Amino acid sequence: MNMTKPASRPVNPRFSSGPCAKPPTFKLEKLNDAPLGRSHRAAIGKAKLLAAIERTRGILGVPADYLIAIVPASDTGAVEMAMWNLLGARKVEMLAWESFGSGWVTDAVKQLKLDAKVTTADYGQIVDFDAVDWDADVVMTWNGTTSGVRVPDSVEIPADREGLVIVDATSAAFAQDLPWDRLDVVTYSWQKVLGGEAAHGMLILSPRAVQRLENYAPSWPLPKIFRLTKGGKLIDGIFRGETINTPSMLCVEDYLFALDWAESVGGLEGLKARANANAQVLWDFCERTPWIENLAVTPEAWSNTSVCLKFTDDRIRDGAAFAKAVAKRLEAEGVAYDAAYYRDAPPGLRIWCGATVETSDVEALVPWIEWAFETEIAAQTQAA
Ligand SMILES: Cc1ncc(COP(=O)(O)O)c(C=O)c1O
Repeated sequence: MNMTKPASRPVNPRFSSGPCAKPPTFKLEKLNDAPLGRSHRAAIGKAKLLAAIERTRGILGVPADYLIAIVPASDTGAVEMAMWNLLGARKVEMLAWESFGSGWVTDAVKQLKLDAKVTTADYGQIVDFDAVDWDADVVMTWNGTTSGVRVPDSVEIPADREGLVIVDATSAAFAQDLPWDRLDVVTYSWQKVLGGEAAHGMLILSPRAVQRLENYAPSWPLPKIFRLTKGGKLIDGIFRGETINTPSMLCVEDYLFALDWAESVGGLEGLKARANANAQVLWDFCERTPWIENLAVTPEAWSNTSVCLKFTDDRIRDGAAFAKAVAKRLEAEGVAYDAAYYRDAPPGLRIWCGATVETSDVEALVPWIEWAFETEIAAQTQAA
């Protein structure tokens, strides 16, 4: 048992799964060009908003005929906007394997009162995609942030599906491939993989989703903040940066800075490589360590952003208390902030490995997890 504190520390101890670490080159001065105190409808504001949309398209490889909007209320706003506008036209299948996906199930079943088929899997597992009815509208989370389970690349969504595929990709976008031609709605928020600011969401729509918007009016009321059509026609200005309500131009500037940074590390390929390298450090750690495991069971479903770990040592008496105590030690040492598991998930650690995190910091963290684990086992034994 080694309880000596490791000699080196992560330079940046921010391992939160949202808001996530800012890009390593971030400084507040980088936002000096923000048109503060100006209207977002002035030419300068509109140009920035349009740039945010079109540069997103470039980096993520969003097809030219898909529409992109900046919407209120972060990823939650974008997902709910999609659900409230699009669902109800045909049968619905909800897929969930962790907390956020379960939240969308509640929206569909309890709020929209849809007679939806609900398919769930426990934390660590994923649903059986072979059993999914793609002629239904399907709603799912691409990367389950609270379980560290993502949709495997091998899942094939049929090109000739009848339904729309609505995907909450907030912890996947900019770190994982998204098969655009198989997805009809993709959402994310700036505060995740790019380390942007919270409160703004991105809503990406396929031509089929737009067709649904223009040909279907839901039976429930739509507040102004959700409305994407007027008189049965798409309000197309929304997809050129004429936002529904007032955005923060400081956050827009910050997002543009994050996109600059994303380009500087090689765009989507570079971002994916960074997240993969970060997650690999933790996967290797689990591989060689008998007392810790990836919560996600199947390797092809292992998230490369929100890596969730569980302690498996028989000596642990109270899993939740133990995990919280380990996270507290890491925080107190200033080596990992916000690394405890999500409140509804099985106890353990959750280490954000998205692109803004440096691999050297994940490497420096691992010996500290070993130290905190051993120290907590000893404390628990002593207390008994
Ligand atoms: C999968 C998923 N969906 C939705 C959300 C909510 O995002 P926001 O707070 O940006 O609305 C989160 C936040 O962590 C998430 O991880």
